[in-house]
Amino acid sequence: MRPNKVLSWQISKNTATFKYENFTLNFQTFSERIINIFASKGENKSFTQAVVMKPEEAAFDMEESKDYIILSTGLVKVRIGLEQDFAMEFIDNKGFLLQTIGIDLSNKNRSCSFKIRKDEHFYGLGEKTGFLDKRGRRYTMWNTDHYEDHDEGADCLYESYPFYMGLNRTGCYGIYLDNTYKTFFDVGKQDKDTVTFGAEKGPLNFFFIYGPSMKEVVLGYTKITGRIELPPLWALGYHQSRYSYVPQEKVLEIARTFREKDIPCDVIYLDIDYMDGYRVFTFDKEKFPDPAGMIKELEKMGFKVVTILDPGLKVDGDYGPFKEGLKKNYFVTDKNGLPFTGRVWPGLTCFPDFSRDDVKSWWAGLHEEYMNMGIAGIWNDMNEPAVMDSSTKTMPVDLVHDRNGNPTTHEEFHNIYALNMAMATKEAFKKFRPCNRPFILTRAAFSGIQRYSAMWTGDNRSYWNHLKTSIPMLLNIGLSGEPFCGADIGGFTGDCSEELFIRWIQTGVFYPFCRNHSGASTADQEPWAFGARCEQIAREFIKLRYKLLPYIYNLFYQAASSGDPVLRPLVYEYEEDENCHAVFDEFLLGESILGAPVVEPGKTNRAVYLPDGRWIDWWSGKEHEGGRYILADAPLDKMPLYVKAGSIIPMREPMSHTGEKPLEAEFHIFPGNTTEEIRGEYVYYEDDGRSEDYKKGAYNLYKIRYTMSKDVVDIKFEKTHSGYDLGQKDFKAVIRGEKIPDTVLINGRKSGFNKENENMVIDFC
Ligand code: GLC
Repeated sequence: MRPNKVLSWQISKNTATFKYENFTLNFQTFSERIINIFASKGENKSFTQAVVMKPEEAAFDMEESKDYIILSTGLVKVRIGLEQDFAMEFIDNKGFLLQTIGIDLSNKNRSCSFKIRKDEHFYGLGEKTGFLDKRGRRYTMWNTDHYEDHDEGADCLYESYPFYMGLNRTGCYGIYLDNTYKTFFDVGKQDKDTVTFGAEKGPLNFFFIYGPSMKEVVLGYTKITGRIELPPLWALGYHQSRYSYVPQEKVLEIARTFREKDIPCDVIYLDIDYMDGYRVFTFDKEKFPDPAGMIKELEKMGFKVVTILDPGLKVDGDYGPFKEGLKKNYFVTDKNGLPFTGRVWPGLTCFPDFSRDDVKSWWAGLHEEYMNMGIAGIWNDMNEPAVMDSSTKTMPVDLVHDRNGNPTTHEEFHNIYALNMAMATKEAFKKFRPCNRPFILTRAAFSGIQRYSAMWTGDNRSYWNHLKTSIPMLLNIGLSGEPFCGADIGGFTGDCSEELFIRWIQTGVFYPFCRNHSGASTADQEPWAFGARCEQIAREFIKLRYKLLPYIYNLFYQAASSGDPVLRPLVYEYEEDENCHAVFDEFLLGESILGAPVVEPGKTNRAVYLPDGRWIDWWSGKEHEGGRYILADAPLDKMPLYVKAGSIIPMREPMSHTGEKPLEAEFHIFPGNTTEEIRGEYVYYEDDGRSEDYKKGAYNLYKIRYTMSKDVVDIKFEKTHSGYDLGQKDFKAVIRGEKIPDTVLINGRKSGFNKENENMVIDFC
């Protein structure tokens, strides 16, 4: 008997089961676009904590012939061969989308292989080194404290997102492998025509997500693994960090310098040296005699404080949290039930078993004093978890996690240790700050982390190459469901130079998470550390971020509603344009702003690919026809930046920090120089930027549309949701450029306007 021939099958409503000699294949529709596939040798199906989606009512239709059974969701068909050796094909209305080559459930492997199409490109896979298109390499998902160079040879960094998408001429699909063990994705490395994904352990349980657009795949993937909640507005400002600002006077001095120098900044970080001997939840009393007073003082200046917290608790009989954890058996143990110890910053430490709900609540409770003091955000680090005296850099895989009475090995729990720590941290915010939105930053993660935390890409270096590759890395993290991501601006290890810092801050102000951070014993890296020229450029670019905050905040609203990344690769908006498929050194901030940073030394111009449409140079106002490369001027004080003609961008005057004044936007309309009639539309979201009230409807939504011809600009302004009384009262549009029509209509009524710096300014509400 052929091992891969269907022996029997059973279909009921939204599930279908096919029995082969060696395994069973189970299909379940989660929606018209999402099908769950589970290949098993008798194990039960279960989902990891990454999955939050429940199957929707979407039944299969079935067609049966001699050779095939076709399951159809309406949008996508799965054809299962009955007579030939194992064959499974996902088909859309344009033809084949994906063709399986095989499923392997041998003892060594659980994997699935698909044919790669000639024209296929691959994206996603989270925090991986290299360029945008992930084709041609093999990737492993195993959270690792990777202090060494993050060059192309580096595989496992801190985070694991077992998700990729394939884009080919027939459209885009996604695969999410719901397995927390070490998994792998061979994207045409071993065999250039095959992608194989799988694991040595755990179930071969994956989701097929049909597009046909990339946007629909991201929408589907973030339906499965969840979306971010709106962050507090202050977290979208500029963050300043260093390992470490000590003593407390130094922290205050850095903060004061920002204000004196008129460089906007919202957040300052306390790295490990604030603690007493690296004991988490303590302060070094000599270096920080009055942390609460310091935080108050910083608050007065408009700064929030974020403190680092590592999971390991110092083994010390006089240290309260350790004593309590030990007494209550809260730590990860070996097979004999003895707490595991490993070395991290404080020396020997024990690690909370975050797989347990009671341990999560205990950990949350430990935050009380920090929260009462006014610490605004928590930075979870070393949470892979990193163990410094282990050859594997982490815990032995045979350690035990209790998982609320369903014990499992560290091998299974490793990749979700940080996810569970983030859950515990979020519980702390819910407990002690129920009215405020949490801010959590994490180094390690797994799919679904976006529901809890922002991320940064760990210990990069002050290398040009790390500036360059931060862009594709963040773009792929954004496509993997985590929009709130950033890399250490200026680089963590090594000394940054003036030129590198200038180019990095120009790029970094567009990172969704915008933080300058540097390592111990490295050269100073504050915006003023490289002299007056750099300071001036940094000031201008950080101010530019603050000007764009209403636009950026709205992109976070979009991310929370649909999963759209804040920072997007060009291919996300222009997937039919082959020139965009591999562009890695440009990005789109939302749909309308295109950035093309300089990422090499000594360059004062660069080639920029502008996709279809007309693009307006941010600095000169000059317009360029898209669908081609241009050579852009990029003197040291400029980064090539463009706005898509027709766009509406909400902006405001820059401020020293987000709390200075309410987030009031002016709507900048960029019509460009066309003589044809032009139209544009924008949906504007506003709320209080800090509380959870928006979840109960306390927000406003506006729809702004305009049509502009040679003589008339006709603006329609409509409130489509009303729920936030303290919202903006006066609305203004600024028509950018020289095209000034004679007549302005607001909701059909004639209105006046002023002229300011060549622009037309209209008060419309
Ligand atoms: C790790 C973190 C880094 C931090 C340092 C000290 O290396 O990645 O950001 O500054 O630990 O806490």
